[in-house]
Amino acid sequence: MQHSVAYTILFAGLICVVCAVLVSSSAVSLSELQQANAALDKRKNVLLAAGLAQPSERLDAAQVQERFRVVKPVVIDIQSGEAAPAIDASTFDQRKARNDPDSSRPAPANNSSISRLPNHAVVYQVLNGAGELQMVVLPIEGYGLWSTLYGFLSLDADTKTVRGLTYYQHGETPGLGGEVDNPLWKSRWPGRIAFDSTGQTVIEVIKGRAGPPEDDPHRVDGLAGATITSRGVTNMLRFWLGENGFGPYLNRLRDSRKSS
Ligand SMILES: Cc1cc2nc3c(=O)[nH]c(=O)nc-3n(C[C@H](O)[C@H](O)[C@H](O)COP(=O)(O)O)c2cc1C
Repeated sequence: MQHSVAYTILFAGLICVVCAVLVSSSAVSLSELQQANAALDKRKNVLLAAGLAQPSERLDAAQVQERFRVVKPVVIDIQSGEAAPAIDASTFDQRKARNDPDSSRPAPANNSSISRLPNHAVVYQVLNGAGELQMVVLPIEGYGLWSTLYGFLSLDADTKTVRGLTYYQHGETPGLGGEVDNPLWKSRWPGRIAFDSTGQTVIEVIKGRAGPPEDDPHRVDGLAGATITSRGVTNMLRFWLGENGFGPYLNRLRDSRKSS
């Protein structure tokens, strides 16, 4: 049986409408679940950066929440380093804030291709049972070779000793720049010292092998065949630990440790 042209067009149109409704309704109904999963993944990465979870562990949502109990997310004003208690850390979206001209500003010149800076950021304070600061986990981002890498850097309460580094989103090449996810490379970070004795940020991913943290405190092994991504890691650490990043916040933490 041969259908008329009008019938064929109408039928194809109907199929398009049905598919569009199906795709858009599933996108809407799944968006909450996606947001919850993204939030959970972020928490897992905070735990990984802080060494409170290991890459080999497969934690379910309840286990992540349980371990996260010692972590206190705090919203800070980046420029002053002061806490901004009026902003709810559980709902604050730093990327959204960075893209909104009302809650961000142009970034000063930098080597990480960061064009705007949010006025506020969420940092994660890891506390012991007595409520004392053990570590602080800072969100970092910056350009590698192909993409912006998003991750977390964990510093000891001394605000200079690295406790861990992890990336939860990037588009670098697997096997090259994508080796930022390699647990062996990440294991090279704990114990490195981010600053020199004058307070300059000197941590650096070098080309080739670095010595152990005791002998070579400021340098970390480069990623083989991925010097550009490696340089991107150096650049973003120097930016976020510097005066335009979390420098003011880290200064405040140092001062409060001295006075307590
Ligand atoms: C397909 C392809 C993908 C690449 N991906 C990366 C990458 O993700 N990160 C990176 O730094 N270099 C990457 N490179 C290599 C860079 O172009 C460049 O050669 C390298 O960063 C230089 O590092 P090296 O001096 O350690 O060899 C890639 C090269 C090719 C051909």
